[in-house]
Amino acid sequence: MNHHKIKRLGIISALHEEQEGLVQAMEGLATVTHGMRDYAVGRLWGIDAVCVLSRIGKVAAAMTATMLVEKFGVTHILFTGVAGSGGPSVAVGDIVVAESLVQHDMDASPLFPRFEVPLTGLAHFTSDASLSTHLAGAAHDFVAGDFLDVIEADERRVFRLQQPSVHRGLIASGDQFVSCRDHIGRLGTNHPGLLAVEMEGAAVAQVCFELGVPFAVIRTISDNANEDAAHDFMRFVKSVAARYAFHIVRRFCQQPHPNLAVKAL
Ligand code: ADE
Repeated sequence: MNHHKIKRLGIISALHEEQEGLVQAMEGLATVTHGMRDYAVGRLWGIDAVCVLSRIGKVAAAMTATMLVEKFGVTHILFTGVAGSGGPSVAVGDIVVAESLVQHDMDASPLFPRFEVPLTGLAHFTSDASLSTHLAGAAHDFVAGDFLDVIEADERRVFRLQQPSVHRGLIASGDQFVSCRDHIGRLGTNHPGLLAVEMEGAAVAQVCFELGVPFAVIRTISDNANEDAAHDFMRFVKSVAARYAFHIVRRFCQQPHPNLAVKAL
């Protein structure tokens, strides 16, 4: 549990559609371009924040997280985006908040146990409990308070979205877009309790672990990581993902929380 105040919050997404609207909502916006990324620096609902798109994959995400800390001085990191479902209990439209993250394509065996990141002694990187609880609260409030208003009936019908569930647990990341039943099945077998699969979260988790920066990861499920995944992913990202991300981050920033430094009165 981290009790230090958020002095500056870094918000990362892989793709534009996963963060749409946040930069427009910033006050005192200044954009700094560095290393093929645009870092939007400003205030977001009273919180000093930096929003950036990492692009896709673990290296891209690790570089972005490192820059946020080392060049932009962020004290906490939030990753928001979409993911494939890790198993039958997690449906398209559900929300997953990571408790821990694993790199499912890490394998330095027999030198190190499979999935362990060599020389860290860890396969699972734990997210900050306090930040994650606050984020899950924002997700619950989004489902109860915003969902029906901001996701149109047409979209709810197309994606068969009803009352989305908020899950907390294991997310697996790798440099693979998972689009095969057998593959997601194997990942589920190798990682009991797996809720979601994506391509960045565990890389951000490793960087944050190594630099001692509290972080949280939230993912909306866009597809079932099966043969329909690419099609479902594209559709979901185009029309729904941004609205989830925007309103969850808004509620995260607006809700009173001991770790959030609110605007001086
Ligand atoms: N992000 C969204 N869907 C995904 C999938 N099926 N595999 C990897 N990353 C994803």
